[in-house]
Amino acid sequence: MATRKMRCMIWLLGAAVFTNAAANSEFDVQERSNRYPPTLEIENPVLTSKWIEGSDFVQVIEMVITNNNDQNYLTSADTLVVSADSDFVDLVSSGSLTRLAPHQSAVVQIGVKNKEGITAGTPCTVNITATYGQAYGSGVTAAATSTGNCGFGDYEASTSSLSNHWNPDWFNDVKFGIFIHWGLYAAPAYGSVSPNEDYAEWYWMRQHDPNYKTKTYQYHLETYGENFNYDDFMSNFTDVAWDPKEWMDLIAASGAHYFVPVTKHHDGFALFDFPTNISMRSSIHYGPQRDFIGELLATAKQYYPEIRRGTYFSLPEWYNPAYAEYAITWGGGFPGGPPVNPYTNKTIPYTGYVPVNDFVTDIQLPQMQQLAYQYETELMWCDIGGANNSTIFASEWLNWARDQGRQVTFNNRCGIPGDFDTPEYTTNSGTVSFKWESNRGMDPFSFGFNYQTPLDAYLTGEDIIQSLVDIVSKNGNFLLDIGPMHNGSIPEIMQRGLRDAGSWLETHGDGIYNTRTWSVTPGTGSIRYTKTADAFYIHYMDVPPLTLSISDPIPWLPGDTVTVLGGSQNGTVVPVTHSNGQYNLTLTDEILNGDQYVWSFKLAYTSDW
Ligand SMILES: *[C@@H]1O[C@H](CO)[C@@H](O)[C@H](O)[C@H]1NC(C)=O
Ligand SMILES: *[C@@H]1O[C@H](CO)[C@@H](O)[C@H](O)[C@H]1NC(C)=O
Ligand SMILES: *[C@@H]1O[C@H](CO)[C@@H](O)[C@H](O)[C@H]1NC(C)=O
Ligand SMILES: *[C@@H]1O[C@H](CO)[C@@H](O)[C@H](O)[C@H]1NC(C)=O
Ligand SMILES: *[C@@H]1O[C@H](CO)[C@@H](O)[C@H](O)[C@H]1NC(C)=O
Ligand SMILES: *[C@@H]1O[C@H](CO)[C@@H](O)[C@H](O)[C@H]1NC(C)=O
Ligand SMILES: *[C@@H]1O[C@H](CO)[C@@H](O)[C@H](O)[C@H]1NC(C)=O
Ligand SMILES: *[C@@H]1O[C@H](CO)[C@@H](O)[C@H](O)[C@H]1NC(C)=O
Ligand SMILES: *[C@@H]1O[C@H](CO)[C@@H](O)[C@H](O)[C@H]1NC(C)=O
Repeated sequence: MATRKMRCMIWLLGAAVFTNAAANSEFDVQERSNRYPPTLEIENPVLTSKWIEGSDFVQVIEMVITNNNDQNYLTSADTLVVSADSDFVDLVSSGSLTRLAPHQSAVVQIGVKNKEGITAGTPCTVNITATYGQAYGSGVTAAATSTGNCGFGDYEASTSSLSNHWNPDWFNDVKFGIFIHWGLYAAPAYGSVSPNEDYAEWYWMRQHDPNYKTKTYQYHLETYGENFNYDDFMSNFTDVAWDPKEWMDLIAASGAHYFVPVTKHHDGFALFDFPTNISMRSSIHYGPQRDFIGELLATAKQYYPEIRRGTYFSLPEWYNPAYAEYAITWGGGFPGGPPVNPYTNKTIPYTGYVPVNDFVTDIQLPQMQQLAYQYETELMWCDIGGANNSTIFASEWLNWARDQGRQVTFNNRCGIPGDFDTPEYTTNSGTVSFKWESNRGMDPFSFGFNYQTPLDAYLTGEDIIQSLVDIVSKNGNFLLDIGPMHNGSIPEIMQRGLRDAGSWLETHGDGIYNTRTWSVTPGTGSIRYTKTADAFYIHYMDVPPLTLSISDPIPWLPGDTVTVLGGSQNGTVVPVTHSNGQYNLTLTDEILNGDQYVWSFKLAYTSDW
């Protein structure tokens, strides 16, 4: 199977030819025979670790197909079929492409299954052939060979074995997720916002630094007094306004297709259940005495089974006595405990701590296994890294999930390389081919709820949608965080932004979910692009001008239909004119007035030009 490095190469190789935009910018009426065939090349076909979702382990071979011809397009008239020949596998599903402009590339997948007698994970060779253009003569072929592993063998507890794992395609499809930071830090819900805000969920650590910009040390002293310890917030972290169905209804209304609640943050206070011989520091034994994660995931599974269920988990705990031997300064400091009162320096209890021999093997690993096997997470969203047993965790979990026919994924913060990268409160300025997910709060700089944040500083529906479109056009997912209040209620301002985003997604989803990145450019200025197998989407992140001019080599051909996607003018046909490499979409006032946040247009490959 291909390693992570090879996965990056696929796009880089493709990228080398992207810079040269289509030379054929004029669509003179020529005989068909003068404008076919295209010149296709198959690059880096890879036997991936993915199977076609819902299939009986049909293995995905993923490749990039590039059209190296200077002027001939691949269109549906060329009937491209990609197939495989091998002594090891049989072809189960062939690949196809209906449009490829000159000097552009597309990812194509085919599905194969081991022949009888070939053991899962066997090193193997598969010949790939793309055939096209038969309708106009003898036809043309392009060929390539893939070597890797056929079928899905066991992972071993090593980073080299785990580097063969790809994030499943469902993670490429879901695009928009809701992150939820809810824990003891929601009780004080404090981080000063001037001159710079800091994460409110870092309250306990900030309390130990009188000079820190958030002045949490001083705030706590004035508000609660020096004898009120952080763990005393357990009494004010309640379930009186918590309704898991309401949370899930809101997540569904936002248009998110996955969610990731914090199961245990750096304060070590968990919201899920595990054996009492490893720890009792959780909402099961203290405070509300409820299994919030269990109830939330069960509610999601019952009412919204199509929404993917993830779990955030902090590998270290700031003040766990057992973490002291692994203390790290990375990420703001994880010194280990026991904790001290920041005002008296006296050692204070670490509530719920059960003495163990080793933090990693006796607490961290069993808790992660609990989330994997008892809570059946689909996405392990680790944080911080540091001391870990994650090669053991991930290999056993991936093998177990495979045996159940489930494709799961984990991020890059488990202390080992992961399936995707996680830029935090930032995004990528261009397309990044290794899968990534940008995360941030609706708050300008906090994941946990912060009473100090003015209402007008929160992200609005418009902000969310514009960020989402930008991120998706560059191969990212957007994991947007909300911070519920101490009693489980979700602030109105967050609800409004999420519902507004959801109402846009309800009519524009075809241009977001399940799309892939265009090989040429994600767009510039206010324009962004996404695409699917049979359509190309143009997004304008502002009110567009009446003549929307595009200078990028969009794969439009005479006879294609461009329509408005979403809003009140959904389906309205948009005339396109073209000359000298410029495409003009002629819009109307109705179209401009008929939408909000981002205006989207669907270019359907209806032409067989
Ligand atoms: C794959 O291609 C190689 C090289 O062209 C050829 O020798 C081999 O027979 C092919 N294998 C199959 C199964 O088609
Ligand atoms: C609980 O927390 C809220 C918000 O911080 C605060 O307004 C309230 O006074 C607290 N109640 C108790 C009993 O501490
Ligand atoms: C939950 O807490 C918020 C903030 O303290 C408060 O406004 C709201 O009334 C509470 N809800 C319930 C049901 O107690
Ligand atoms: C607590 O310890 C810190 C660091 O050792 C020291 O700077 C501070 O003065 C001490 N505070 C008290 C109240 O002893
Ligand atoms: C906790 O109990 C389980 C089941 O009895 C056992 O397998 C595990 O080793 C124990 N863990 C610790 C840290 O004692
Ligand atoms: C994770 O654990 C492995 C094995 O103990 C170790 O080599 C690696 O450095 C750890 N990762 C981090 C980020 O500390
Ligand atoms: C991880 O697991 C192995 C095997 O159980 C153990 O030897 C190691 O010390 C563990 N911890 C870390 C931090 O790697
Ligand atoms: C938008 O229009 C298309 C036809 O162009 C139609 O298939 C689709 O259902 C419409 N979407 C909505 C939300 O009405
Ligand atoms: C597109 O619109 C621009 C600005 O209105 C105009 O200058 C240009 O000639 C138009 N091009 C085409 C192909 O219609």
